[in-house]
Amino acid sequence: MQDNAPPRTYRVKSFGCQMNVYDGDRMAELLADQGMTAAAEGENADVVVLNTCHIREKAAEKVYSDIGRLVKAGREAGRQPMIAVAGCVAQAEGDEIMARAPAVSMVVGPQAYHRLPEMLDQAAAGKRASDTDMPADAKFGALPQRRKSGPTAFLTVQEGCDKFCTYCVVPYTRGAEISRSFNALVEEAQRLIEAGAREITLLGQNVNAWSGEDSLGRSIGLDGLIRELAKLPDLQRIRYTTSHPNDMSDALIAAHGEVEKLMPYLHLPVQAGSNRVLKAMNRSHTVDSYLKVLEKVREARPDIALSGDFIVGFPGETEAEFEETLRLVDAVRYAQAYSFKYSSRPGTPAAALDGHVSREVMDERLQRLQASLNRDQLAFNQASVGSSCEILIERKGKFAGQWLGKSPWLQSVHFEDNDGAGAAIGKTVKVELAEAGPNSLKGHLLQPVLA
Ligand code: 5AD
Ligand code: SF4
Repeated sequence: MQDNAPPRTYRVKSFGCQMNVYDGDRMAELLADQGMTAAAEGENADVVVLNTCHIREKAAEKVYSDIGRLVKAGREAGRQPMIAVAGCVAQAEGDEIMARAPAVSMVVGPQAYHRLPEMLDQAAAGKRASDTDMPADAKFGALPQRRKSGPTAFLTVQEGCDKFCTYCVVPYTRGAEISRSFNALVEEAQRLIEAGAREITLLGQNVNAWSGEDSLGRSIGLDGLIRELAKLPDLQRIRYTTSHPNDMSDALIAAHGEVEKLMPYLHLPVQAGSNRVLKAMNRSHTVDSYLKVLEKVREARPDIALSGDFIVGFPGETEAEFEETLRLVDAVRYAQAYSFKYSSRPGTPAAALDGHVSREVMDERLQRLQASLNRDQLAFNQASVGSSCEILIERKGKFAGQWLGKSPWLQSVHFEDNDGAGAAIGKTVKVELAEAGPNSLKGHLLQPVLA
């Protein structure tokens, strides 16, 4: 900032995964704890945090163009914002950012953002600050308590990854796998519920690798944590993401059939449908072992909605190998999925492999894969037409009287309450699903508010 007035407003802009959204919320809470308020929509903020993602290419370029835009807006307004670059680009390229972008006064990695307030003080005194240390589990204890929540909330339970898939930067940017303690998680969940959360999504890069000890000192896995959280009275729904197929324990699968609050949805990335490609990716599972897990999950919870992640064009992927991915998709019939073109990430083992697939071929494969995935997503939604389910209302719709929420299967559903039946954000209502599109459904309110 050009004058010496203390910063009063902040904006946190998060890119990428849900864990970044969680981190962004926690950084916003930290800044609010310093007495600052969120800048209004369209207004310049005194402090801007760019909470970046490094998973695919162009991430760094996007950061530099965002910084350029902020500097230009600051020049026009006659007051430059203090800019912090956070997240995985900060972790991977912090020194370079400091060297290349003098407008940036703070660089802070995903495991160090609890230090943002001190760094802000330093920056206000004219000293640029950078912290990309990775002390395991240090930040959570240093963050303020949760005080604000919408009806759905994220709760990071596990961070980091020891799997080292050959294409992925996460083990380098987020560090080794750590599990937060059971007590800390139950307490944070309680605070979120007191603050209004009715659904909590447990987050982790390998969330199903979470392990800990319950209040009696017994070793438990994610299933045990879910069973404990399910006892919290005002919590209605529990979800978790993202899981690795090898960490899908029988106990966790059983929980899907036994814990009513655990929603019938599982995001289980597979990445590719060819065993040779999976091996080259160092996924340490095969197509068959993955399908076996899904079979057990479907046995435990027949109506489960399955979701996955896919990468097309991994180095050396042949047309025949890609077709194996299409066959896997045909066999599973995903309710939802995310698919990406392979992106070579500096420093990862796959970047050094031969046989990089051309952009044109990747584009074409992605289109074909997405056509199959979209077909199945629409079919899944269409199959629910005529049935009724509970919708947790998350927000108002575009039109008067319209509300938006999610079904247990994470489908977006909109419906109208023109008779004042009591629909409101955070309430659960019974809705009959009437029309299906690929990305959302339209429903009719059946009965007023449940909770
Ligand atoms: N290129 C393309 N997609 C990637 N993902 C992770 N790394 C890469 C990469 N280098 C995808 C995987 C992962 C999801 C979060 O992002 O599908 O599951
Ligand atoms: Fe990346 Fe693989 Fe770890 Fe997932 S399991 S974060 S894809 S290395």
